[in-house]
Amino acid sequence: MSARPILSPKSLILMSSFAACLLGGLAFAQSDGASNEEGEAAIPFALPQSGPFTPAEIKIDNDKAIADWFRSAHANAAAEAFSHWDDDGEIRAACATCHSGEGFRDFHGLDGTEAGVVNGTINTGGVVDCGTCHNAGLANIKEITFPSGLVHPVQGVEASCLTCHQGRTAGINVETAIANLAVDEPNGDLRFINPHYATAAATWLGGYGASGYHYDGKDYSGRFFHARPVASCNSCHEPHTLEVEFEPCLTCHQANSPEEIRIARQSYDGSGNVSVGISSDISANAETLLDLIRDYTEEVAGAPVIYDGNRYPYFFSDANGDGVIDTGEDGRPVAYGSWTPRSLRTAFNWKLVTADPGNYAHNPKYALELLYDSIADLSGPLGIDFEAMDLLR
Ligand code: HEC
Ligand code: HEC
Ligand code: HEC
Ligand code: HEC
Ligand code: HEC
Repeated sequence: MSARPILSPKSLILMSSFAACLLGGLAFAQSDGASNEEGEAAIPFALPQSGPFTPAEIKIDNDKAIADWFRSAHANAAAEAFSHWDDDGEIRAACATCHSGEGFRDFHGLDGTEAGVVNGTINTGGVVDCGTCHNAGLANIKEITFPSGLVHPVQGVEASCLTCHQGRTAGINVETAIANLAVDEPNGDLRFINPHYATAAATWLGGYGASGYHYDGKDYSGRFFHARPVASCNSCHEPHTLEVEFEPCLTCHQANSPEEIRIARQSYDGSGNVSVGISSDISANAETLLDLIRDYTEEVAGAPVIYDGNRYPYFFSDANGDGVIDTGEDGRPVAYGSWTPRSLRTAFNWKLVTADPGNYAHNPKYALELLYDSIADLSGPLGIDFEAMDLLR
């Protein structure tokens, strides 16, 4: 857990204003969409003129929700995801939708502005506040567009999770970038394409969502329907703490933790071990893929890459292959600049799968397929006996 900011007077006012919104009858989207038509609710989220301004005055129900939320990542104003723009003084439109409740409301037109675009100046300091999810206007959002271009129908609060956890790029962006280029030839114009972070909804929709780079002639598993009543994000995630409660999983699964859950009776990673969770097969194949990307850049592309998960753009140059990231004249690490179409598409799939720590619960099949196809893609030019690796798709 990272450090949480001390409860500031500002956050107290914000928090109680959300509570006042709820108490004031601004109903939760799923249960009451009609109130949005009324003039008063046309501004679905606004600071109240009066109301409870200290936690002690807030109703017990809300108190619990607020306390849970306040300890969650959504409320962590100090996180990079919310403080990244502090020096700029405002959040760029392209980023604001997902990095502030205010930006989210602007994008969806819940603030009375045009929908589908962030057209206002979005202040820094915002988080995923109550009015992001408790907003009568959400009921009017019928579909969400994904980076692949897919338009997916949504209901109620799902609209919020799917807006922000969809990632920012998709396989189609990779396809466009590498079209008509020689597959194993380094091209200085290619840059790493980052799927972005916490891409749970992208994984969840699988092949249907088309977030990954899809290989020609291959089929990809669609949305992971799981099993009723597990139907959406909040079937597993408590919406305020964001935590996954394990107990309900045990109705259908036998395991000691989510990571240890397994239904598959076959091994996907060639280990033959089916006593571990499916998450283990996914991480093993992800590790194999990253190793092969490194080998490929060295042996085939002739320009070794190093991955550093702590620094954007994550893939750096190691021209002399000594295992140390090159630094430029300015002393800064040199971003990898020798991508080939093959290394770019496999690195994209690797990053997409690993950008979702819940991949095994969100859509294990899709994750495994993307990894398998990418490993197969690299093993050809590396002269590896792919069959002997004994992987399963
Ligand atoms: C579609 C929604 C969406 C958009 C648009 C978006 N982001 Fe994000 N971003 C996220 C989510 C969700 C996370 C949270 C990942 C986490 O920390 O769990 C995130 C995390 C980040 C982080 C923190 C990464 C880290 O390592 O902790 C940075 C920095 C960031 N985004 C920058 C940007 C920038 C810059 C833009 C605009 C050019 C942008 N984002 C646009 C959804 C988005
Ligand atoms: C990320 C979305 C999200 C955010 C942010 C959020 N909520 Fe909720 N909240 C929900 C959902 C979804 C439910 C419905 C839970 C259910 O039906 O089981 C809910 C339910 C509630 C309830 C009903 C009782 C309960 O706990 O289930 C209250 C009260 C509440 N929220 C208050 C708040 C307040 C106050 C805030 C801000 C401090 C807040 N919520 C922030 C999504 C959110
Ligand atoms: C306005 C954008 C936005 C919306 C809406 C949103 N999230 Fe998030 N979510 C984020 C960002 C940004 C982070 C990363 C915050 C951080 O790094 O502190 C995050 C973090 C998370 C995390 C990671 C928690 C952790 O401990 O790291 C989970 C789980 C999550 N969100 C689930 C949901 C669910 C479920 C919904 C819908 C009910 C939802 N989110 C709605 C932007 C959003
Ligand atoms: C079958 C249950 C299940 C469903 C449905 C589900 N998740 Fe998850 N999710 C998990 C598990 C398990 C993890 C990994 C453990 C954890 O981080 O708590 C996880 C992890 C995450 C994380 C990363 C948390 C972190 O620690 O960084 C995010 C973000 C997230 N889920 C968002 C979502 C969103 C958005 C949806 C809906 C599109 C969703 N989840 C649907 C079970 C689920
Ligand atoms: C109502 C029963 C039910 C509940 C509750 C349930 N699951 Fe599942 N789960 C299933 C079924 C059925 C499958 C197989 C679905 C398929 O393959 O299409 C599955 C598959 C999985 C898988 C993939 C296993 C594999 O080997 O492919 C994971 C991981 C998982 N569930 C995690 C969870 C978590 C975490 C929870 C609790 C938050 C949970 N499940 C709750 C029924 C359930």
